[in-house]
Amino acid sequence: MTLLTSIPNYEPFARIENELKSTNQEIVEGIIPLLEHLILQHLPKEARILDLGCGSGKLVQQLHLRGYQTTGLDASPELLRYARINAPESEFILSDIREFDLPPTFDVVLSHIVLLFILNAEELTSVFRNVHKALRNNGVFVFTIPITDWFHEIAPPTFNHVNVNDECALIEIFHYKPEQRIWEIQVTGFELIENNWKRSDTTWLRKDFFLADVRSALDKVGFTDISHYNFKDLGADDSDGMACFVCRK
Ligand SMILES: C[S@@+](CC[C@H](N)C(=O)[O-])C[C@H]1O[C@@H](n2cnc3c(N)ncnc32)[C@H](O)[C@@H]1O
Repeated sequence: MTLLTSIPNYEPFARIENELKSTNQEIVEGIIPLLEHLILQHLPKEARILDLGCGSGKLVQQLHLRGYQTTGLDASPELLRYARINAPESEFILSDIREFDLPPTFDVVLSHIVLLFILNAEELTSVFRNVHKALRNNGVFVFTIPITDWFHEIAPPTFNHVNVNDECALIEIFHYKPEQRIWEIQVTGFELIENNWKRSDTTWLRKDFFLADVRSALDKVGFTDISHYNFKDLGADDSDGMACFVCRK
């Protein structure tokens, strides 16, 4: 049996993520129009959609509001607790995306800002195999993943993401390890609890993949009609090397 690499610890940051990340405005004005363009316009209204690495479930909620049958899957119990509050009529599954096993009932599987946490090609292939199995014939997989071909040469040694509101703050400092094409992300969160600031710290790892490796892993498990887009070409100001892939079972 192969031992899996560790998953990022989101538990101490669940409230902070829920308050600061993937806001409804970002989803409604950014993600939904993009999905509409790529896939939703071709789907029947009752289509079944699985969001892999759904976090606090805000995309699941917005898709449910548009009439789709939605399921979210994530490895973080605390984020799923928020997801069940945000999207009470949707189904949620606690699982690792490298190990889930669902019957072929989904028309679409989505995964946004999740596969960057898969640290090698073998585990990426396992995720793709699980997705392929969960899709109906002709079903579509849409996902984002960072591409080293586009970012390695221009990657700064460090960059930051900072999100703040009155009660929460999240600081992510990315440090590049060029030999492994991995980013070590130092994460610090603050949340106000009964007038006291609670601080949490952890480290997450982000892996950047070669385009050819992503395509060959998709190909290997049986996906067809594989296309990819640079997020910059899809209108993002700053893509950090992120690609959006679309492929079909
Ligand atoms: C950056 S958040 C993105 C959440 C959501 N997709 C969004 O766009 O807001 C990454 C999510 O991936 C989940 N995740 C990371 N690795 C995972 C794994 N191996 N299995 C299941 N979930 C995973 C985390 O728990 C977290 O909810």
